[in-house]
Amino acid sequence: MTRAPDARAGLGGELLVHGLAQLVDPRGRTSDPLTIIEDAFVWIRDGEVAATGPMADLPAEAALLLGDGKDPRAFDGSGCVALPGLVDSHTHAVFGAGRAHEFERRLAGATYQEIAAAGGGILFSVRDLRSRSMDDLIEISRPRIAEFARFGVTTVEVKSGYGLTVEDELKTLRAIRRLSDEDDLPRLVPTFLGAHAIPEEYADDRESYVRLVIDEMLPAVVEEDLARFCDVFCEQGAFTLAEAERILERAGELGLGLKIHAEEFTPLGGAELAARLKAASADHLVAIDDRGITSLAASATVATLLPGTSLFLKLGRHAPGRALADAGATLAVATDFNPGSSMSQNLPLMVPLACLNLGLTIAEAVRGVTLGGALAIGRPELGVLAAGSPGDVAVFDTPDVRNLAYHYGVPRAVLVARDGRPLWKAKRRSSRTDTALLS
Ligand code: NIG
Ligand code: FE
Repeated sequence: MTRAPDARAGLGGELLVHGLAQLVDPRGRTSDPLTIIEDAFVWIRDGEVAATGPMADLPAEAALLLGDGKDPRAFDGSGCVALPGLVDSHTHAVFGAGRAHEFERRLAGATYQEIAAAGGGILFSVRDLRSRSMDDLIEISRPRIAEFARFGVTTVEVKSGYGLTVEDELKTLRAIRRLSDEDDLPRLVPTFLGAHAIPEEYADDRESYVRLVIDEMLPAVVEEDLARFCDVFCEQGAFTLAEAERILERAGELGLGLKIHAEEFTPLGGAELAARLKAASADHLVAIDDRGITSLAASATVATLLPGTSLFLKLGRHAPGRALADAGATLAVATDFNPGSSMSQNLPLMVPLACLNLGLTIAEAVRGVTLGGALAIGRPELGVLAAGSPGDVAVFDTPDVRNLAYHYGVPRAVLVARDGRPLWKAKRRSSRTDTALLS
């Protein structure tokens, strides 16, 4: 019996995107030009890229899918650009209530730190998350995570860090695990961020909380295999450099990859620590100094830039993306999606922000939301669009990749597939407003 063609049947899907104006493969070093194939196809079979290339080289077996033009596995990519599915390598996407009330206070002049010092900010989200069941957390997070796919994102790193007790951190990570079992959502990469804030009940005894993270939370997380990475918020008012080092060293001993929120507001030396501990990434870096830049550039640690956070917090300053790229650091660009400092899943919007505010070229920023993000989560293969790479593809309704930065803010993901199975397909093309740019 033959089965009706079903992109979701089998282990992984089959998909042919044909007639693409551009197929972009971001492989290369930070500042290399992007490799672009014009009038191109990408053919995914069994969830993996079977071939890419110019239409003239379309394999006969793939051409069968063109048939009468009605096969749902074939997608007309004319006038479009294909990239590997975007990788958002830094989010806090599992939380309860939003914090629009704090946003309004910030618009009226209060700072993020003032709100945090008054018991709001992260601690507001902690009180809220502790009051919820795991099932409630899953229900409230699912649509927020699904939203990423509409922007072309097929992989999302998600941090815990709003629980801050053993049970509430485990509850968060179990919720992430449950959501990562749902194959109509982006792939999730879990990070343990028990060291996000000192919880209220430990305000006068921070050392006991640091020990709780090291001696109880980390072993429990590892025992259940709930996280790939451990992260620490190293900042005045959060965790000191020495505390971050103790926590990350233990996490490394237990086999977790390492990440750090470093120099978001204050240069404490987190970037150098990350390089020394061979962390996968050091993130934020708004206040990084020359020594931090030099040590990241000399390491394999990815410098993760979060231009949405500087904007949303009205910081008035930005991570030195240009200096980091010129020094030779590997860059990722991510949203930092969270209820306090960056309430947006729009990873493509971070491309023009990284160009305009951080001095990146378009190629650097596009590589940052693809290969750079993939490197920051230890999955380089997710940043490649070529035969043998995972079948994650994002098709954008514009004929020139440069429009992703130039004609900014347009919702243009028309087909987004994970492992060859569509996560998102636009009902109709709405943004056919770009013509090919003159080069
Ligand atoms: O990356 N900096 C610390 N953590 C988040 C903010 C989390 C929150 O405000 O809820 C960040 O900006
Ligand atoms: Fe963050």
